Amino acid sequence: MNDSNQTRPEHLTWTKEDICAHLGDDYDSFMGAIVPPIFQNSLFTRKTKDHGYVYTRIGNPTTDIAERKIAALEEGEAAKCFSSGMGAISSAIMYWMSQGAHVVCVRSAYGPTREFLGTYLKRFGVETTFVTGDSIAEFEEAIRPNTKLIFLESPSSQLFYIQDLEAVAKLARSHGIGTIIDSTWATPLYQNPLRYGIDMVVHSASKYLGGHSDIIGGVLIGSREKMEQMTHGERALFGSNMDPHQAWLLLRGLRTLPIRMKQHQESGMQVAEFLENHPKVETVYYPGLASHPQYELGRNYLSGYTGLLSFVPKGSEQAISEMIRRLRYFELGPSWGGFESLINTPGLGISEEASQATGIPHGLVRISIGLERAESLIEDLDQALNSLT
Ligand SMILES: Cc1ncc(COP(=O)(O)O)c(C=O)c1O
Repeated sequence: MNDSNQTRPEHLTWTKEDICAHLGDDYDSFMGAIVPPIFQNSLFTRKTKDHGYVYTRIGNPTTDIAERKIAALEEGEAAKCFSSGMGAISSAIMYWMSQGAHVVCVRSAYGPTREFLGTYLKRFGVETTFVTGDSIAEFEEAIRPNTKLIFLESPSSQLFYIQDLEAVAKLARSHGIGTIIDSTWATPLYQNPLRYGIDMVVHSASKYLGGHSDIIGGVLIGSREKMEQMTHGERALFGSNMDPHQAWLLLRGLRTLPIRMKQHQESGMQVAEFLENHPKVETVYYPGLASHPQYELGRNYLSGYTGLLSFVPKGSEQAISEMIRRLRYFELGPSWGGFESLINTPGLGISEEASQATGIPHGLVRISIGLERAESLIEDLDQALNSLT
């Protein structure tokens, strides 16, 4: 099964919407089924014919379709699916590692990514320098002769810090250093970092790509050569590949990604503007607002904005916790990017030391705007915020 099996009139070009809906359609191979089946099998027999598959830890036809869609969306040569975002991140990092290596990572990266680099890999002699990511001079100063990797997350997922992707990629290449970006917030619809010379892009598929809060998954996109090495190297050796059933649910999520993102973006912007003008709100963090300190830089890379934002309500931690209890639409929970609205509390109960190290202000709450009616979410936030004394 490959794209040449797919009949498509030549005058049609693949838009991102078409990729999500139709890339990988192969009705003839699947008895006309409009939705490809789940190949829920561990191995493939080859006595009469070799179909190119051996063992699901290496590759599977259902997972392949998801990988082809995501590679096309990210404008990459190839993609690999993983059992989680962290599976993709840790495998991608290990691809660049060697004994005594040094890594430069933004301090705003996802917590477990920082832990993997700063604590776990330290046991093996790998050192990491954490930087704010605000300037190229800072990255340049952090580079050492043994630096093998620069890890970015842009926009980041708590305060939405943005890095200058093109400038970092250029700097890294001039020193022979690899680059990885966690681009989960933007999705492949709104940012394509490979265009700017970044080597590898990772996404947690547990967020918008899946979109239904029913899978944990990850994807990694890069050159065909690197992804091929990943197939038989890190992914196969750590056994962190995606299960076919997970891949099938990811495919289902991808089909509606463009329409969901349009709604998340529209509602996210409305909620951000509402919060920015609310008297009980101290600060709003959202890359789509002109008040975001890196709004102009972001416009170079982002073609859209999503539904994850954060803000600091005016009030004590106790008052903020009470405000959260009053919310009717927003459930209190981690993760984000699903159909449901959620609230999380990265800035409650945070130590001064952790606040200094990460830049997360005391009182920060993060909300993921779901697919409910934006006006209902705004009314809900308004009634809860007005309870703050
Ligand atoms: C920005 C970001 N990257 C990576 C991950 C890890 O993804 P997963 O939970 O699928 O391992 C998360 C999860 O919350 C995340 O928010």
